[in-house]
Amino acid sequence: MNFLDLVKRRFSVRVYEGTPVPEEKLEMVLEAGRLAPSAANRQAWRLVVVRDERQRRALGEAYPRDWFWSAPVILVVCMDAAKAWVRADGKNYSDVDGAIFMDHMTLCAASLGLGTCWIGAFDPDKVRHVLSIPGHVEPIAMTPLGVPAEPVRAKSRKPLAEVVNFDRYRP
Ligand SMILES: Cc1cc2nc3c(=O)[nH]c(=O)nc-3n(C[C@H](O)[C@H](O)[C@H](O)COP(=O)(O)O)c2cc1C
Repeated sequence: MNFLDLVKRRFSVRVYEGTPVPEEKLEMVLEAGRLAPSAANRQAWRLVVVRDERQRRALGEAYPRDWFWSAPVILVVCMDAAKAWVRADGKNYSDVDGAIFMDHMTLCAASLGLGTCWIGAFDPDKVRHVLSIPGHVEPIAMTPLGVPAEPVRAKSRKPLAEVVNFDRYRP
């Protein structure tokens, strides 16, 4: 499978089989995140892998959808912004780095026939409480991980001409 085919194969999976994620596949997904690039290679991230059913149910309080917590694994990307690289104008790259970490994992998962779905609309305080995340660390994104129980969906995206400018920005 070439890279574009893989990108097309990743979609937001919101229905999962109850079957467990094989250990070797989980390890590959985690390794893909670990190898992600980050600004100045700061790697200011921590990933919490949630498999315990009681913990998953509790996370379901932070994002109340049954398909979310009932997937066999939930991955929670946490960032320590104080350890991330900061540009001269003060911009902190923590969120950017965390997004790359997550994207590496979601694409790796798709390459292994596993489904994911970026979750941003969660209650961060509830996630902090369930996972005992300290105050200076922020949970920035979560995803269920499991065997998809729905077929690959085609992408709905703006045409390239609306997204890409050459040589200068055009409003
Ligand atoms: C940062 C981010 C946050 C998202 N948060 C949620 C979410 O809370 N719940 C959800 O169902 N989907 C969420 N999504 C999934 C998007 O809705 C989805 O990626 C988009 O509609 C494109 O569809 P596709 O992933 O199937 O290609 C999120 C995606 C991103 C990138």
